[in-house]
Order: sequence, then C-alpha cells, then structure tokens
Amino acid sequence: MPAMPSNADANAGEARAELTRRSVLKLGLAVSGVLAAGGLVEYLQYQAGAAAPTAFELDLPGDYPDGSATHVSAAGAWLLRDEGGLYAISTRCPHLGCTVERQADGFQCPCHGSQFGLDGQVRRGPATHPLAYLKLTVSEQGHLVIHSDQVIDASVRLPV
Ligand code: FES
Repeated sequence: MPAMPSNADANAGEARAELTRRSVLKLGLAVSGVLAAGGLVEYLQYQAGAAAPTAFELDLPGDYPDGSATHVSAAGAWLLRDEGGLYAISTRCPHLGCTVERQADGFQCPCHGSQFGLDGQVRRGPATHPLAYLKLTVSEQGHLVIHSDQVIDASVRLPV
C-alpha cells in the first residue's frame, strides 16, 4: 500500500511551485527591464538624418536657349529662359502643394485645375498666388545652381 504524503511533503511541493512561479516572474521582469533599457539607449542615441539637399547644379547657362523650359525634378523646379535671362519656377502649386504640370503656354495643377503662365502668374484659380521663383546662381565652375529653399522676386532674371 502506498504511503500517504505527509504535510511536510505537500509543503515542499508548494515551495517548489512557488519558487518556479517567482523565478518565471523575476525572469520576465529582468527581460522587460533589459528591453526597456535597450530602447531607451536607442532613443537617446537617435540622430536626425542628413538634411535634404537644397542646391542643384545644372549645365552651363548657355546650354539653355531662349524660350527653353527644362524640368529639374530633383529641385522641384522648371528652369526657363526668356529675353531677360534665366529663371527657375517652383513646381509646387501655391494652393495646396500639388506638383504643377507643363502645358504649351504655362502650367496647370492636376489637383484642382489652377493654371499659371510661363511667368508663374495665376491665370485661373483656385490658387491665388503665383508660382514661387527660386534663386539661381552660377558655381565657380560656371554651372547653374538652383536653390530650392530660396524664394526670390519674380522680376529677377539671371542674364546669359
Ligand atoms: S493644389 Fe493646385 S489647384 Fe489645388
């Protein structure tokens, strides 16, 4: 006949079970702590990425003949030349920021239909402001540079 477990055996079993639950709980807390600490370290070491470029070098000014219109998508601009010289117009619609598309005699916004002349002036709304003119300079090597972060007056031309 098997022996009946004594109270001492039952208490020892409960102690082992309690130790196991405590061990698992401690292990879980330790793992959570390590993960949280790792996330905190990563958060504290975060560095913002490099700023997006705002200067875009093109060809020589003489490479853009009078009446030409060149899309410079990287700069978000059209480079145009009239009798006064070269100028760059932003492709960003002043209404809500869509990218305008070139038409035979200007630009049109595909989002809400605003139309602009080749000089960037509004021909039809809902846009109420003209397209932005972007600063143009010439590099030391003689190449054109569009500065997409610098808006200038619409009357400015870069003489060629
Ligand atoms: S975003 Fe261009 S017309 Fe609305």
